[in-house]
Amino acid sequence: MKFIVDQQVEDIELPENLKLNTFLQEFHSDCKSPECKFGFYGFAFGQSPFHVPKMVQNALIQNASNGKYAAVPGVEDLRVAISEYNKHYFHMDVDPARIYVGPGTKELIYNLLEILHGTVILPTPAWLGYLPQIRFLKKNYHMLPTRSNKKITPHDLKKLSLRLHDRQKILIFNNPNNPTGLVYNKRELEEIAEVCREQNIIVISDEIYAQTTYEFENFVSMGKIYPEGTFVTNGLSKSHAAGGYRLGYVIFPQHALDVRRQFKKILATEYTAVTTPIQHAAIAGFQVSKEMDEYFRITRKIHEIMGQYVYEKLHEMPGVKTTKPQATFYLLADFNQFSPEFNASKIDTSQKFSETLIQHPYHTAIVGGDSLVLERTDYSARMAFVDYDGEKAFNNYLDNAPKTHSDRLEFVKTNAPRIISGLNMIENYFDHLLKNAHSQIKYNSSEVPISN
Ligand SMILES: Cc1ncc(COP(=O)(O)O)c(C=O)c1O
Repeated sequence: MKFIVDQQVEDIELPENLKLNTFLQEFHSDCKSPECKFGFYGFAFGQSPFHVPKMVQNALIQNASNGKYAAVPGVEDLRVAISEYNKHYFHMDVDPARIYVGPGTKELIYNLLEILHGTVILPTPAWLGYLPQIRFLKKNYHMLPTRSNKKITPHDLKKLSLRLHDRQKILIFNNPNNPTGLVYNKRELEEIAEVCREQNIIVISDEIYAQTTYEFENFVSMGKIYPEGTFVTNGLSKSHAAGGYRLGYVIFPQHALDVRRQFKKILATEYTAVTTPIQHAAIAGFQVSKEMDEYFRITRKIHEIMGQYVYEKLHEMPGVKTTKPQATFYLLADFNQFSPEFNASKIDTSQKFSETLIQHPYHTAIVGGDSLVLERTDYSARMAFVDYDGEKAFNNYLDNAPKTHSDRLEFVKTNAPRIISGLNMIENYFDHLLKNAHSQIKYNSSEVPISN
């Protein structure tokens, strides 16, 4: 039997997350060294290391018997809980009618892009999930590269927008940002919003990392600054360490009644509603409670400790620049200073950089620049700092919260030894790369650690 797949699907490139999985598996299974058995130092995957909060787990168990379909926009109590959550944490007063629940923000962003007319503006570097969606939907799009501080500027946004002759433009705005870990402040948001108003740009504000902002009181949602034009998306995946639950929500702009109606049609056509027991579990996660508040506080503190450690270590390596994360569990490291040495070792793309770093003896996984919608020759990489047992670290933090800088160092040593070893590997990699380039000796791969 020969199956014919629709040409439109055949033409789609493998999404970056799948590419990344395949790439890591292939490179690793090719490794013959016994040292490969331990796996690899994981700076690549963006998954929270913590446990799903116990009250969310319990609510899921208690609702396991609920097999009925839920209403298309979501269970009413959940939409009310999400509204309360937004009021409490993000100071936004949102009528539950403006909130729709879907199977993850990724799907919701895709659905928004399906129904919204307009050219998409994609700031780069970007999370690897957006571009495959935009391409699949065959939408017109333009990149908006950020400058050295890795944030878009109102000036650049306006300049690009003036070149686009669409009646409506869609800015995909990810704040806090994956891969940089940076957070836009209120003034920056206001300036961007001003351009959006003037240029008729609507915003999909992907705020999935909002709750991880280290100085949480400083986080401001674009939905508060530009309520008439912003679709805010958020969910359980990062804040509640529950990516596998597949639950996200979108807050529609004020007065966007018709868009909501159209969106409902899409949801009903594509997936009817999110799993009912999961929606009930999410109620426990979004309802404002002491237990959840404590969970958010501790998990964001631990992300901050790990982020600060990785940032400091990378900065100790001469020539390496990185963003200083203010949220999330990522930073963007810039290894472009080593371009001459990369080229001397015939590592001429960021893809080859990640390939040589995963190989023996380094066993270290990162997300290279081309997966972040950067040039193939941009040796920047996203480094996630989540390769540790989150539940253990959480309990250790509860028992004895580190207070001083040396306490925090000790905390990393005790709880995240793989992060420490992985960073040492990166240091070794660059030592070898420099030696290799400077000695100008042609090695063969069995003699040297950098394979060409
Ligand atoms: C920036 C960003 N947006 C969205 C998502 C996907 O979130 P969800 O699990 O809700 O689909 C991720 C996951 O890595 C992400 O990093």
